[in-house]
Amino acid sequence: MDMQRIPAQKGKYNLQDYDKMRETFSWEDAKKHFSWNETGKVNIAYEAVDRHAQNPKLKDKVALYYSSPDREEQLTFEQISKKSNQFANVLKKHDVQKGDRVFLFLPRSPEFYISFFGIIKTGAIAGPLFEAFMEQAVRDRLQDSEAKVLITTPDLLERVPQKDLPELKKIILIENHNETADKYIDYKEEMESASSDFDIEWVDLEDGMLIHYTSGSTGKPKGVYHVHNIMIQQYITAEWVLDLKDDDVYWCTADPGWVTGTSYGIFGPWLKGVSNVVRGGRFSPEAWYDTIEKYNVSVWYTAPTALRKLVSAGEDVVKRFDLSSLRHVMSVGEPLNPEVITWGLEALNHRIHDTWWMTETGAHIIVNFPSQEIRPGSMGKPIPGIEASIVDNEGNELPPNQMGNLAIKEGWPAMMRKIWNNPGKFESYFVNGWYLSGDSAYRDEDGYFWFQGRLDDVINTSGERVGPFEVESKLLEHPAVAEAGVIGKPHPERGEIIKAFISLNEGYEDASELLEDIRQFVKTGLSAHAAPRELEVTDAIPKTRSGKIMRRLLKSRELGLPTGDTSTLEK
Ligand code: PRX
Repeated sequence: MDMQRIPAQKGKYNLQDYDKMRETFSWEDAKKHFSWNETGKVNIAYEAVDRHAQNPKLKDKVALYYSSPDREEQLTFEQISKKSNQFANVLKKHDVQKGDRVFLFLPRSPEFYISFFGIIKTGAIAGPLFEAFMEQAVRDRLQDSEAKVLITTPDLLERVPQKDLPELKKIILIENHNETADKYIDYKEEMESASSDFDIEWVDLEDGMLIHYTSGSTGKPKGVYHVHNIMIQQYITAEWVLDLKDDDVYWCTADPGWVTGTSYGIFGPWLKGVSNVVRGGRFSPEAWYDTIEKYNVSVWYTAPTALRKLVSAGEDVVKRFDLSSLRHVMSVGEPLNPEVITWGLEALNHRIHDTWWMTETGAHIIVNFPSQEIRPGSMGKPIPGIEASIVDNEGNELPPNQMGNLAIKEGWPAMMRKIWNNPGKFESYFVNGWYLSGDSAYRDEDGYFWFQGRLDDVINTSGERVGPFEVESKLLEHPAVAEAGVIGKPHPERGEIIKAFISLNEGYEDASELLEDIRQFVKTGLSAHAAPRELEVTDAIPKTRSGKIMRRLLKSRELGLPTGDTSTLEK
């Protein structure tokens, strides 16, 4: 490991002295930033939007700079406040109550952000779905959450299996459509007649606000449930880690279907009243650099996969753009390669700050603070107020430099409060007061954490978390597939790709057309990012005597590693 250390330029960041803050900070201190601390009236939508709309100095500030290849728009805090009030009135008219689940299946668009806050203002729970999901992925999530209302487009509606969703009472279509049944609500029409005044639903800090579905190594995706209290940690990390200041223009490249796109693509900047850039459309190095130049982005939060693509696009492309507005750059979602950090120093003239956290943690946990030296390859240190450690399977702490479970002491403000519809599952994350992340890591003598890998079979492909079970289940639905085992295989640009081993039913031959057909079946049925890039036909999938697929063994064989203990292998 390259132990070159990159010093910080001290003195110009919101968090000046990490070590001191670690000694003195308490989450009680953080509460003083919120109006509810005095008024007792809580709603994260008020803190992120309405509060600024009521502030004469901020109401006309651009909250959202939206740009996609065919649309550009700017919305001020006051406009978002009023439009989300209108949307909240539309939802109320259609009987949405506090605690109801209202899901969004939308491309990144101003309507996403307006309806997202409209939902939260009614006290309902928002559930954003990644735009690339296909029918099976949509079905699983809408069924499990028993969503009552869905906001979508006529195009995406084709992927919503309505006959399997009896709880889904209304569908709001944000674009022109030909649906006439009562079930369908026309966004534009109803927004026009809705009042822009709304009595926001004041809730309890522990009331639900958001569900993000995410994958584990077993079973269907799980609904990670977050409450309004999440704002405390989002706010404080927007200050310390994103290092946001009033005049910043901030751009988080994550989709709001994933937690980075909500915690730091919406709440972080807006809780701080900072202008936020949202870019629709596909990735291209030119379009991304152009976004920085055009909006004078000063704080940029992105992901290793994208950064690796920028590295391969070459420095000539960077040089064509004026990126001098950049002040602070961060990364999340996968290990950040030291080579990418080196590229950042050379091509961008910036340190790239890795951050580690998860859907379940709700907000940053371990980070490289701007005010600290970076050790390339390390995720950094826990934020003040967080106790993170390396523990064994019984929850006993391990000494420095020993690998084990990356664990967090229970009770941080942004922690998920339950797994929707699955009470037992939540408990299973905790051992001896520690939340076990499923990641393995070690901590060095100076308290820096170093990521080593996943301890379970969860796959991280281009920063997107995929459960092997979901992919295997879909593969098994194909008439040719008898058995399936799915693993993550290391890949230089995507981190991991999905590789599936399958055995075929009688009458089917291992031929490239068949394999392509199977790949397409997963792609169009589940989602493109979950489709195996590699498919291999094998005689039998190794299983334990109790019938569990031995993905570890498949992976070791694939990578030519020792296969370890195979004593439970079915003979
Ligand atoms: O394995 C870790 C990896 O992504 C997982 C969490 O995925 P998700 O819930 O989708 O949230 C992604 C972003 C908040 C973790 O268990 N991961 C996340 N950040 C890093 C990382 N792996 C290495 N380095 C990171 N900085």
